[in-house]
Formats: sequence, structure tokens, C-alpha cells
Amino acid sequence: MSIRGKDVFSGITLLLFGFLACFTSSEAAIKKYQFDIQVKNVSRLCHAKPIVTVNGMYPGPTVYVREGDSVLVNVTNHAQYNMSIHWHGLKQYRNGWADGPAYITQCPIQTGNSYTYNFNVTGQRGTLWWHAHILWLRATVYGAIVIMPKQGTPFPFPQPYREQTILLGEWWNSDVEAVEKQGNQLGLPPNMSDAHTINGKPGPLFPCSEKHTFVMEVELGKTYLLRIINAALNDELFLAIAGHSMTVVEVDAVYTKPFTTESILIAPGQTTNVLVQANRVPGRYFMATRTFIDAPIPVDNKTATAILQYKGIPNTVMPALPQLPAPNDSVFALSYNQKLRSLNSLQFPANVPLKVDRNLFYTIGLGMNSCPTCVNGTRLLASLNNISFVMPQVGLLQAHYFDMKGVFTTDFPDQPPSPFNYTGAPLTANLRTSASRGTRVSKIAFNSTVELVLQDTNLLTVESHPFHLHGYNFFVVGTGIGNFDPAKDRIKYNLVDPMERNTVGVPTGGWTTIRFRADNPGVWFMHCHLELHTGWGLKTAFVVEDGPGSDQTVLPPPSDLPPC
Ligand code: C2O
Repeated sequence: MSIRGKDVFSGITLLLFGFLACFTSSEAAIKKYQFDIQVKNVSRLCHAKPIVTVNGMYPGPTVYVREGDSVLVNVTNHAQYNMSIHWHGLKQYRNGWADGPAYITQCPIQTGNSYTYNFNVTGQRGTLWWHAHILWLRATVYGAIVIMPKQGTPFPFPQPYREQTILLGEWWNSDVEAVEKQGNQLGLPPNMSDAHTINGKPGPLFPCSEKHTFVMEVELGKTYLLRIINAALNDELFLAIAGHSMTVVEVDAVYTKPFTTESILIAPGQTTNVLVQANRVPGRYFMATRTFIDAPIPVDNKTATAILQYKGIPNTVMPALPQLPAPNDSVFALSYNQKLRSLNSLQFPANVPLKVDRNLFYTIGLGMNSCPTCVNGTRLLASLNNISFVMPQVGLLQAHYFDMKGVFTTDFPDQPPSPFNYTGAPLTANLRTSASRGTRVSKIAFNSTVELVLQDTNLLTVESHPFHLHGYNFFVVGTGIGNFDPAKDRIKYNLVDPMERNTVGVPTGGWTTIRFRADNPGVWFMHCHLELHTGWGLKTAFVVEDGPGSDQTVLPPPSDLPPC
């Protein structure tokens, strides 16, 4: 059976379980979607403006599948921009060709051309998302991926009555690509966003946006599953619902030990599933989202709102605002992230690598390189181990698979060039703010276990960085503030039930350690999911070698893989 996203779903429809049960009653299926990349005039905020969309929708259609399904998404590019789509969090075993980051696993789909992303959804269930993976186009080109558990496999938490996808985004009144370009020309951060959005709408706190409020209707006494996605380009966000607590049950399509909280914290790239009980005095309640920032950096601090509305309550009832943590509440942030634990049950074990074959230590730095044409004579950039990544002209995966020379080097260092007081006073740290540039990656032996410590630095400024690894989930075994101390910090690792996920925040002026088993051959991008920093070079890739078995090698490329 095949379902075409644009026919069946409008991204913001409440999905009825009864309805789902009848179209997914068979075993593994092939789900087909048509994604037409179109520039459409979308009426949002105070005026209508043309934006790049999938099928004219903002946010785009939900890809709705079941664990075990095969998915075919034909993307046809009718826009003037080159395009590629990434299925954020899908592991794409042996199949980097369907991963999507432009110039890493494919060349972009050029105007007038098509490419079919062909992948299986194996061993994963929960909420993920898809987005454009080229320039800043993901500002408007994104949508949810919902993976239902296999037929007959219940959730490991009480069955919700209904569910709802909640996509948090960032909106610019002017053309996003022009904003990005201008920033690059000046060598400065581009203009910050004009609004945050919930399911594409900023809510009534934003001037002249009364019509543009997302409303979710609930029935008294029922439980709802919210599938929350942070699709913002640059802002880590808090989210809360007035009067209602939330029970976190899953992040990044991995079940968690349930815990109840008044607010969640979600970084760009991450997803969070929560249960909400409609058990308050029937009325209207605001759901609100606002930026978390504990570094001295200007950000869009506007609050976006949506409304939780009990059935039968008129629109004239004024909703109350929830209490969000203070914008710089790092204590909340640390303790919230500490609460995230893998379920680690018999059915969903946490297979944490206990022995490490390869130890990596990467410093995260911001910096400035000289730029005679820029306003200050310098251009801001960002680096890992003092290397600012340069995008190649052809896909790295092709270069790896066909053994093309001269595209990348595999000499990305396992350690920074020299140790320093990473999070010390800016004066000492900033003696070394310029970085070398190159398309340098790290080669990883098949099936080896990797420990990677990501260390924030005070080069220019400390800041928190959500790091995303393609092709894998990893375990977040430790995190802390200050400089990572191998002797003191390694013994404190959680190797029992650490959170398994695909995107993790490195705290401001701190470090985070992840572990994973390199059992997925291919070329896998790793980058800060703040688009600003990705653009500045805060990225690299792992080349994971083929294994000995015939089913442990990168699959041959599909025949319609876009040419450069
Ligand atoms: Cu969600 Cu490389 O991205």
C-alpha cells in the first residue's frame, strides 16, 4: 500500500489512532511520497511572502511510517535553489546515499531534476524529522517523521488517546538566503530571526498574528502524545504548557525512563515526546516556547505561543501563559539533561560500549580569519580541533566509494594541536583564534568502539553547541562544566542507562562525552546543529570503513544519484 504525503496529511492534523490502525494493518510496507520543492506564497505573520516549501506546505508533510517499512521519497526540485533533503536520525545502514547532506553524501538536486531517497526504517521507532540540508534552506523546508512501532508492539507507556506533532521553528520576514549571504559578505552573524513559530505560526504575542495561532483541541480526561521537534536554525528552546505538566517518554526516537517536568529543553535537531493529560479546569491554556541562552550572545528572545483548548470552550476565554525557566537558566538545563536516561529494559537495552578502541578529543572553537572585503577586515568562523571544515565540490561518499583522489584527506587529528586552558579567561584562550581550513575527516575502523569528548572553549566566547552525528545513535555517557579531566571525569561516566540519541548539547563552557560502535560503513557528517556555526565550519565527517562481510559494505549508489 502506498500513501502520498501530500494527499493524506496536512502537517498539523490530529492523527486518529483508529484511522491509523486501518491503513497500517499489514506487515512491513513500502511507503511512497512525492516531495515537490516549490516556491509558494505563504501567508504568515503580517504579510504573505514567497518561501521555499515541500508541496506548498509550511511546515512540510509528515512522513508517517511503521518500523520495518521501506520508504521511497521522490524529490522534484521546481525551485531556483539546489536542494537536498536529510532524514535526520534515520540510521541509513550501509545506505549513506539516502542520507542527504549536500556535498557529503550526494550532490544537490538541481533545478528541474529529481532524486528518489530510498531507505528502510529498521530498528527505530519514534519521532524524527526531515529537513533541507543545504545552505539555510531548512528554515522553511522541514517536516516530521513519525515511526510507529511494529504492528502489535505497544508503546512502553500508557497508550495516548491521540497524538500531535509540534514543530518549533524560526521565521525571518526577509528572504533567508539573502540574510545568510549578507552575513557571509560582512563576515558577521546574519540578522537574527524575527519570530519563533509553533507549527509554522508565532501565536498572538506576535503583532498582527491573531489568525496565525496553532490550536490543539483536547478532551477532558484524555491523554495526548506530543511529538515535539526543534527545527529552529539557531535557537535552543524551552517549552511549557500553562497548568499542565509533561511526562517525557522519548527523545530522538529512543524511549526514556519517564519523568515529569513543567518545561522541556530542546536543542535544534532534537525531538522530544511527552504525554500530557487534559486534566485541568476546562479552558484555554497557552503552550509557549522561548530561547535558552546562557552565553553573552544576542539571540531572538521572542516567545511563540500556541493554544491547548478544551473541547467546547469558546475562543473568547483568555488563556494564561506558562512559567518558563529564565532565559539563562543553566541550572535547569543541566538538571533537565541529567534526568534523561535510556529505558534500558529487556526489550530496549542500552548497549553502551564498555571498552573503547578509539579515543577522540575535539575542541569546539569560534574564531576570526582575515577577510579584506569584510566590515572589520575579519570573518567569523568556527572550528573543531582548530580546523574549519571546507565543503568539497563533489560528495565525500562518492569520493570514498569510487576512491577519487584529492577530494578529502583522512588526517583529521584525534586531539587538538596543543592543549590549553580551554574554558579559561578569554585573554589566554584568544591568543589562538584563527583556524586552518581544510576538508579533513577521520577514518574509523569498521565495528570499532569510539569515545568522543566534545570540549567547548572560550575562543572568542563560550557557547552551547548541539552536536549531531549522521548514520548513528550514540550514548551520552558524561557531561560537565569546565575542562574535561580524564582522571576525574571518566570514573563518573554513566555506562548503565545513558541516553541514546543523535543530537546532544555540549554545555556552555563545558564538555560532553559520547560513545558509539562504528558498525555502519560510509561517510557520516558530524556538525553543530546551529546553522550559523555549521556554515562557519563547525563540522567534519567520519569515514567508517567497510566490514569483512558482504553485508557490511557500503551499498552501490542508486542510478539516479544527482551529478555535480
Ligand atoms: Cu539535522 Cu546534518 O542535520
